[in-house]
Amino acid sequence: MRKPLIVANWKMNPPTLKEARRIFRKTGPKKTGAVICPPFCYLSALKANGAQDCHYEEKGAYTGEVSPKMLRDLGVEYVILGHSERRKYQKETDWLIEKKLKAVMRAGLRPILCIDKISQIPKKIKRGYILAYEPLFAIGTGKPCSIEKAKKMRDRIKKKVKVLLLYGGSVNSSNAQGYIKEAGFDGLLVGGDSLKPREFIDIVKKAC
Ligand code: PGA
Repeated sequence: MRKPLIVANWKMNPPTLKEARRIFRKTGPKKTGAVICPPFCYLSALKANGAQDCHYEEKGAYTGEVSPKMLRDLGVEYVILGHSERRKYQKETDWLIEKKLKAVMRAGLRPILCIDKISQIPKKIKRGYILAYEPLFAIGTGKPCSIEKAKKMRDRIKKKVKVLLLYGGSVNSSNAQGYIKEAGFDGLLVGGDSLKPREFIDIVKKAC
């Protein structure tokens, strides 16, 4: 079995670069082998390997946006796409997310596409895609999905597509092992607890 892929989604945290450096020093890829996705503004200072979103164009008149090529140039390797918070607050649609997926692949980055239902799986799955099953009720709520329910969904998705599949939603050090060893996921997408170094290191240890 390959080593589980653990991805940290810092969301819009922490509020200062100083704090970001502190967390990264303790939990970054050198320490844990994890993919760390901080806010854009910290990417270059931290030399982080993951990002939380991007635009679908390479460059141009898109105020406030960041392109996959720019991310690649900074040494980023993975990009989270279609996170439920972006679908909800930025009104991102499957159509838009699919455009981003293609752009990320063109730039030589690996997309981590978040889904909460089977219908969000793209029609054409390319080699290199990573999916993250994140049930809405479990995201940021501290109410994780049961291992049994997660396993059922894992089996349904795996039957449909052969991709690396992560679980996300209220992952902590007590349930991390279950999603990998019992439910059979290939890795984890961790939000809240990825900002707590001790907890995150414990999650990585339990999962691996
Ligand atoms: P959570 O977030 O671990 O805080 O539930 C997961 C996510 O939003 O990817």
